[in-house]
Amino acid sequence: MEKKENKRVVVLYKSFYGSTKQYAEWIVEETDGDCFELDKIKAEELQKYDVIVFGGGLYAAGINGMKTFQEIYDQIKEKRIIICAVGLSPVVEKVIHEVMEANVTAEMKGKVNFFLLRGAYDHQKQKFIHKMMMKALAAKIKSKKEEDRTEEDRGILECIQHPVNFMNKESIRPILDSIH
Ligand SMILES: Cc1cc2nc3c(=O)[nH]c(=O)nc-3n(C[C@H](O)[C@H](O)[C@H](O)COP(=O)(O)O)c2cc1C
Repeated sequence: MEKKENKRVVVLYKSFYGSTKQYAEWIVEETDGDCFELDKIKAEELQKYDVIVFGGGLYAAGINGMKTFQEIYDQIKEKRIIICAVGLSPVVEKVIHEVMEANVTAEMKGKVNFFLLRGAYDHQKQKFIHKMMMKALAAKIKSKKEEDRTEEDRGILECIQHPVNFMNKESIRPILDSIH
């Protein structure tokens, strides 16, 4: 990939199982930026950057770390801000819109760029709480009639049975293109 080196880029991430971390590292690789776990950085340390990318995994429709990011947002809002959510849902307009509406605050709207990336899921490797949440979701889906289940419902039932991995470095290209 062609590198974009003119802007100073920092990528902040919050990741439970490594999908968001991997995307963060790919973005850093292509921008020669810096990378930090969201919880390990203070807003003052972000002042030297031109572009701030924040990525978090999707958990029950919420972006992991979004609350912390909102807390620092006020001190970095004059910068170029890119928010990425990493989840299992297919990257289609409807889902992008739903995730954005649920997570990007009214103040951020129009100021930040939002992207959805596809991650991975291995049920056996999940923490107890996440296994329980997924099982509860699966039970709810199974209570629906077969013909009423959506494509996403079927995807959730499937990923509990077999690990899935939609990680794809090429999918960061629109993010890199937005860092000009
Ligand atoms: C309890 C739970 C809830 C989840 N909810 C969603 C969701 O609402 N939408 C989605 O697209 N993916 C959902 N996922 C899938 C994760 O977003 C996916 O595994 C992602 O790659 C995790 O990123 P991370 O490893 O960086 O934390 C969920 C996973 C778990 C365990």
